[in-house]
Amino acid sequence: MAKITIDREKSAGTISRYIYGHFSEHLGHCIYGGLFVGKDSKIPNENGIRKDAVEAMKAIRLPVLRWPGGCFADEYHWRDGIGPQEKRRNMVNTNWGGVTEDNSFGTHEFLELCRQVGCEPYITGNVGSGTAQEMSEWVEYLNSDGDSTVVRERRANGRQDSWGVRFWGVGNESWGCGGIMRPEYYADVYRRYQNFCRQYGEHKLYKIACGPSDVDTNWTEVLMKNAAFCMDGLSLHNYTIPGSWEHKNSATKFTEADYWETLAIAADMERKVKMHAEIMDKYDPDKRIGLIVDEWGTWFEVEPGTNPGFLYQQNTMRDAMVASIHLDLFNRCCDRVFMANIAQTVNVLQAIILTQDEKMVLTPTYYVFDLYQHHMDAKELACGIEAEKLGTEKHSLPGISASASEKDGIVTVTLSNLDPAKGQEVTIAGVKAGKAAGRILQGKMDQYNDFGSAPLKAEEFSDFEIRGGEVIIRMPACSVAEIRISD
Ligand code: AHR
Repeated sequence: MAKITIDREKSAGTISRYIYGHFSEHLGHCIYGGLFVGKDSKIPNENGIRKDAVEAMKAIRLPVLRWPGGCFADEYHWRDGIGPQEKRRNMVNTNWGGVTEDNSFGTHEFLELCRQVGCEPYITGNVGSGTAQEMSEWVEYLNSDGDSTVVRERRANGRQDSWGVRFWGVGNESWGCGGIMRPEYYADVYRRYQNFCRQYGEHKLYKIACGPSDVDTNWTEVLMKNAAFCMDGLSLHNYTIPGSWEHKNSATKFTEADYWETLAIAADMERKVKMHAEIMDKYDPDKRIGLIVDEWGTWFEVEPGTNPGFLYQQNTMRDAMVASIHLDLFNRCCDRVFMANIAQTVNVLQAIILTQDEKMVLTPTYYVFDLYQHHMDAKELACGIEAEKLGTEKHSLPGISASASEKDGIVTVTLSNLDPAKGQEVTIAGVKAGKAAGRILQGKMDQYNDFGSAPLKAEEFSDFEIRGGEVIIRMPACSVAEIRISD
């Protein structure tokens, strides 16, 4: 019997909607085939963008989309992706599969995608192989309404008014694929590049510096010490990789021990977030600077027979658990975590959408985002979790993950029963429950939605009762639920 005790008087603050953000890179079939098929495709599209994918993204109110990479960002030259399609420069995508990138999806197409989805764009500029001038002019092209050659060029390409892009990344993984820089060096480079990313009119940029990977606290320390004054956000990348980098798990064929190892790695993210947040607190006690976890999620072996450079993996209920654990901990740490972007939206790593030509399937991870929607912009509520520790001798964690928030008088609790084999009774206390409504996603730990059959989805859930103002829920094995409670 587990218990979640909510304290309505204690809160870490407002849960930024951007915690529910996503990331799409020019990698495998994320952009090409997954989101963009071109105007002449037989796949239903609007201006070349898949209608089914847009509808799915709209249904979860996807708030922000990061693009064009990833490692690709530091080899991407934005001018290659504007102007008449037939004149666009071709390049080899050296990071991802060595395929030819024809640049048919560029700035205008990305911003059209964001318009259709109704989300905000987050663009990462090229520091590794680009110049400060190139980055500066991209910002001008996007955000200026002045009279200049760059703005005239945009207008000639069919866009009269500026777009007003707000979220701006200055390089990606500059400690790795973005240029193998030392933090001291990157801090100076960051200061220089961001200086030329101007504010045009009302379009003030939210500038995001490349932050650490995993537990590299030295990177955080050096960046905060030397560049905090000119950044709004600092990124953090952390993937859930059970096994080892050389011998990754299969996405679908794994043991219960693999399952627990995966979930334990996911849960350990809270420690990592707090580790970096503590350093940020030293230099930014008012928490002005957001921690931007702009790459997170599972990284498994690619599906057999697929291009290893395309990072295509299936997505099971294990991924759903990883997603709920992350979103719960981001909610709890919302005093510092301002944005998070799961990697990646379609057909790459922990995708919410998989496509095969004209077919599309929504993954269990998609339904977790669906179930968590009500947390966006709500006030986080502290919740104490008492749950039996589960797992193996090597990897154990509390068998329930949860977070809570309140908006318009309704308390939303999201909770997961991590036990892959047994149901658990969970009591939600601390709220004077009069009414409650629920939705749930449940399945076997290695179950997934495939193109022929997609049984997993979020459904109405009513296996709970209200007793003395508490909600007693019978959570099935391996399940994620949203319970909405009102007086
Ligand atoms: O998401 C795949 C890759 O992982 C990204 O391109 C890079 O930033 C990270 O290493």
